[in-house]
Amino acid sequence: MLNNKLNERKKAAALRVLQANKLIDFCSNDYLRFSKKEWRNYELENGSGGSRLISGHSPIFDKAEKKIAHFHHAEDALIFNAGYNANLGLFSAVPSKGDTVIYDEYCHASIRDGLRLGVARNFSFQHNNMLDLKEKLSRTNGAIFVAVESIYSMDGDSAPLKEIAILCKEYNAYLIVDEAHATGIFGENGEGLSIQEDIETFARIHTFGKALGCHGAAITGSKVLKDFLINFSRPFIYTTALPKHSIENIISAYLTLENTVENKVLHNNIAFFKSLFKSTTLIPSDSPIQSIIIGGNEKTRKIAEQLQASGFDIRPILHPTIPEGSERIRICLHSFNTQEEITVLCKKLNQLL
Ligand SMILES: Cc1ncc(COP(=O)(O)O)c(C=O)c1O
Repeated sequence: MLNNKLNERKKAAALRVLQANKLIDFCSNDYLRFSKKEWRNYELENGSGGSRLISGHSPIFDKAEKKIAHFHHAEDALIFNAGYNANLGLFSAVPSKGDTVIYDEYCHASIRDGLRLGVARNFSFQHNNMLDLKEKLSRTNGAIFVAVESIYSMDGDSAPLKEIAILCKEYNAYLIVDEAHATGIFGENGEGLSIQEDIETFARIHTFGKALGCHGAAITGSKVLKDFLINFSRPFIYTTALPKHSIENIISAYLTLENTVENKVLHNNIAFFKSLFKSTTLIPSDSPIQSIIIGGNEKTRKIAEQLQASGFDIRPILHPTIPEGSERIRICLHSFNTQEEITVLCKKLNQLL
């Protein structure tokens, strides 16, 4: 039974396999190489020993949540074990019966899975299409939530946050922005795109496994939202808390963000890449995520293999992770990628595509 499904995947050239290699990193979300930093300013304890509501809580969480809230210009923050859990915990708990969630069709699986666990009505609007969002808002009654990502994880493009915030105001909708790929990257010190664009939000999701190089996530918003999540968000309540050393690392990552030039180097690398590789198949993006549409699982996989054979760790993104026809090579740029590496990569891309 299981093999049948796996064989179907194989036939569609869509079988997911785990692959580790030591090639030049053009695929991780470790945009600023914080994952390799040796902060280690803590006493090592293996685990937290319980959930936050039983024995897993300690003052270090309060310190971190205060720091995170302050950094992201929010009233409060609540740490979750991962971005996946944060989205699950927010979208399953907050929108209730009779409410509606309208989300961008390209929103991450964790947002959709959260909605599936919840009881609110939900449907998507066309990616970044303000006319469609407006039309859907105008047809909706009751409390409305609008969910978007500031930077879309597969396309790397950004949401028109200012326009979305105006529409939310017009229709009295609560705006939720997943800042997973903008945290540490956009804003003066990496506060995220919502702060850079100076928009009001109901909640934001900041993940620590990407530019911050750690693990975990926080939902930022009001104190009431935090109290609500502590009481009703099952992915927060029913799980062992992160260990203290994870929280120490998260604090160190935020302190480092306030004093680093890595972010500027990264943005230079993004501009450099875009100056060398110009193609209509490249999805317009100012973020570290630069995706090139190839089309077809087989073809996309082959191109990724050729890039890997040239020394670059670049992975194909295939259907069913993304819609059929939009299979792509997804390049993640980092502050530590050298201009020479980027030059050689672009030469190779220009040869292959
Ligand atoms: C937009 C978005 N939200 C949430 C997540 C989940 O974050 P985490 O990896 O911390 O579970 C991801 C990770 O891929 C993401 O891209």
